[in-house]
Amino acid sequence: MKTIGVLTSGGDAPGMNAAIRSVTRTALAMDMSVKGIYRGFNGLLTNHIDDFSPRSVSNIIGRGGTILYTARCPEFIPIEGVRKGVQTCKNEGIDGIVVIGGDGSFRGARDLSNEGVPCVAIPATIDNDIASTNYTIGFDTAMNTAMELMDKLRDTTQSHDRCSIVEVMGRRAGYIAIHTGIACGANSILTLETKDDYTIDNAIKRIINTKTNRYRHFIIVVSEGYTAETKVDANSLAKKIEAATGIESRATILGHVQRGGTPSVRDRVAASQLGYRAVELLKEGKENRVVGFMKNSIVDYEINAALDMKKDNNDELFKIAKTISF
Ligand code: F6P
Repeated sequence: MKTIGVLTSGGDAPGMNAAIRSVTRTALAMDMSVKGIYRGFNGLLTNHIDDFSPRSVSNIIGRGGTILYTARCPEFIPIEGVRKGVQTCKNEGIDGIVVIGGDGSFRGARDLSNEGVPCVAIPATIDNDIASTNYTIGFDTAMNTAMELMDKLRDTTQSHDRCSIVEVMGRRAGYIAIHTGIACGANSILTLETKDDYTIDNAIKRIINTKTNRYRHFIIVVSEGYTAETKVDANSLAKKIEAATGIESRATILGHVQRGGTPSVRDRVAASQLGYRAVELLKEGKENRVVGFMKNSIVDYEINAALDMKKDNNDELFKIAKTISF
């Protein structure tokens, strides 16, 4: 392994730059050359690739987004696209690639490995929805962004005796919702995982049972996945709650602001650890692996095995949220 490539793919996440920096500096320290591949797997199809020196990654550890840009790449799903990528690697002398992204990016890494370009993937997504790791890069920063915004929202919600419905990101999993819901003292948290329990009707009952002349403001956190699956958007939820409870209600969708911002300590350190380990694995001749954290240790799995794993639903956290929020 003389030259490794590094790319970021899928939705961006704060801490991706810290991972790029760690991969680059670790590889250079291990006497390998590094090439930055731009816009995810697209860079392999368009030949947008640069040589990286230690200075290419100076002053990026604290920056959100990704200096390599990111994209989803449908052209890389058919095998012809993957083979074109393999040819680019041959032309550029790239012997292995570190892929930083979510599980869609893992599939690209697996396909490239199967076609002869060894890849190691690093989990990075604000959703924390990857089963083969307890933690994905970007989750902590995104939660803190959402929490700060919700704290601000509570000020005005309380002043006006209103109910705020806050939609947070999380297409397939409610980890941001449950954590920020607890952190901000939400009265109800609606996610895909709790659909049967924390229904909108139950949330309404909780408001009716809790409201008094003195206490009349409420925060309801709802995950993006919940509104998508139930096909009731945050504004419609607000209208429903207002009609049923008499409490004036407003919807706020936090949206992509959750994906930006300077990464937290946790994200910078996690990215640095996983970047280091990913390069070590390539150097050891391993391929088709994904790195991650399990019970405070750094682990790695074969990519298909990782994709088959099921993540736990955070039942304990939901039980706690239900007990202490009213
Ligand atoms: O990266 C994860 C995520 O932010 C999800 O929470 C969200 O559903 C999705 O990406 C949004 O993707 P896009 O930026 O392509 O709209």
